[in-house]
Amino acid sequence: MRRLRFAVLVALALASAFCRQDMQDQPKYKNLRGSAFFDDKRSARPVVEDTVARGSLWQDDRFTTGKADGKLVAALPVPLTRELLERGRDRYGIYCTPCHGLTGNGMGMVVQRGFRQPPSFEIDRLREVPVGYFFDVMSHGFGAMPDYAAQIPTADRWAIAAYLRALQLSQRTTIADVPASARPALESPDAPAKAAPLPVDVDDWRRAVDEGPTEPPEREH
Ligand code: HEC
Repeated sequence: MRRLRFAVLVALALASAFCRQDMQDQPKYKNLRGSAFFDDKRSARPVVEDTVARGSLWQDDRFTTGKADGKLVAALPVPLTRELLERGRDRYGIYCTPCHGLTGNGMGMVVQRGFRQPPSFEIDRLREVPVGYFFDVMSHGFGAMPDYAAQIPTADRWAIAAYLRALQLSQRTTIADVPASARPALESPDAPAKAAPLPVDVDDWRRAVDEGPTEPPEREH
């Protein structure tokens, strides 16, 4: 028995030595590289007609289009939770602040460098639009603003739309709107940092900008 086990181990060791493959030599396609395998010579395959990718079957039109019977929805088609708002804040920080600014006043860094200034989210007209409008602007773009349908998945666009409402609210609240139990936290000296941590560590970011990339960019062979 023991001898048999030994023989199997030796056989396995030999076999694995013969089918060695180095990591730098991976059988994979790089983006847009041609393929000798497919008739149309493209390695990027088109979506098969009449199929839906796993996890992408949404049967609620309000969720996918932001509209019901052709009209923009006034209510969120997803449950409003703390997680949703936090996700929205996170995604807003990534995708929208370069132009709209952290508070939504339309004075993001790209605008300060000359891009067309968007309206503040705080103006009455945008306070009165149904929440589906925000979803629609992100999905289809608006004027000088490009659409973000390709970059931001549907569920995240709703998270951002919900967060825009929170941003609007945040600009016109008074201490009376804060539940009594949460007020002491606001009065402590480090309250602002606690209440709204920035989506990125600003110090890290500044350091990265000052120092520039530390490694040369990776080369494609
Ligand atoms: C590259 C800059 C840029 C980015 C990034 C950007 N926007 Fe905009 N946005 C604009 C500009 C410019 C306008 C005004 C467009 C116009 O009036 O032509 C605008 C307008 C809007 C409006 C108001 C439309 C109206 O009726 O006036 C909303 C809502 C909006 N953006 C949401 C977003 C959201 C949400 C994001 C992030 C997913 C985002 N934007 C990212 C530049 C940007």
